[in-house]
Amino acid sequence: MSLVTLKEILPDARRAGTAIAAFNVANLETLRAVVLAAEAEQRPVIVQTYHRLLDTDVSGPIVAAARWLAQRATVPVVVHLDHAGKFEQIQQAVAQGFTSAMLDGSALPFAENVALTRRAAAIAKSAGLSIEGEIGHVAFGGGECALTDPAEAAEFAAQTGVDALAVSIGTTHGYYKAAPKLDIERAVVIAARVSIPLVLHGGSGTPEAAIRDAVRRGGVAKVNIATEFQHCFSKRAGEEIAKAGEKFVAVDLLLRPVVEDLTTFARRWIRMLA
Ligand code: G3H
Ligand code: ZN
Repeated sequence: MSLVTLKEILPDARRAGTAIAAFNVANLETLRAVVLAAEAEQRPVIVQTYHRLLDTDVSGPIVAAARWLAQRATVPVVVHLDHAGKFEQIQQAVAQGFTSAMLDGSALPFAENVALTRRAAAIAKSAGLSIEGEIGHVAFGGGECALTDPAEAAEFAAQTGVDALAVSIGTTHGYYKAAPKLDIERAVVIAARVSIPLVLHGGSGTPEAAIRDAVRRGGVAKVNIATEFQHCFSKRAGEEIAKAGEKFVAVDLLLRPVVEDLTTFARRWIRMLA
């Protein structure tokens, strides 16, 4: 009942000058924490998974569990595939029951990115999924970013028909060595030319004031958080395992405080973007 696509939640968020948090989940604990947090805050939320899981036996069960939780949730929940790089991965997303997917062709030349994203958008939309694309490039692991050109962004959105557009305005994926300085004015100019909701990747470690500004003025309606959220899991799980030592503790009980920490973490982000 509350299983939705980006189209049902992001345009309203953008109109209101707010954003929806999108957390990368990879197991039942991270997934449950996101849905619990959204319900506690009574805000929509996006659960997204890594494309590398698609070819494993993890993706299907995670999507099934996400759909189960979303259908019973009191708030809208999107089940989204993050950073797919191939057309076939969008087909897998359709087959596995995602309600939304990202096709990331941002490392390709403009024309190739447009062509691949347009193909992905067509198949996603015909199957009822929403689709996110990326123009400009938000780097991974210390690679080179390419800031989004506003004219290219407008052209890309018009030619591909994506529902949401990831832009590069100074964030990168993973932890930063020094706090990044976001080019908010670039987002403002892009937002004036592109009416669909914009997406900010690389939420972890990005100064909150800059994120809020990009949301209020720059058309950003989806903010992705992966590294800090996942790290929250491994830190607390490590502590709980160390505390248990040689004593046997059933894993659901061992991980209960981990889910509580993750939920608290997610609630703070959801509230900050509201
Ligand atoms: O697609 C996921 C993200 O953009 C998350 O970035 O790991 O820096 O929070 P992050
Ligand atoms: Zn990303």
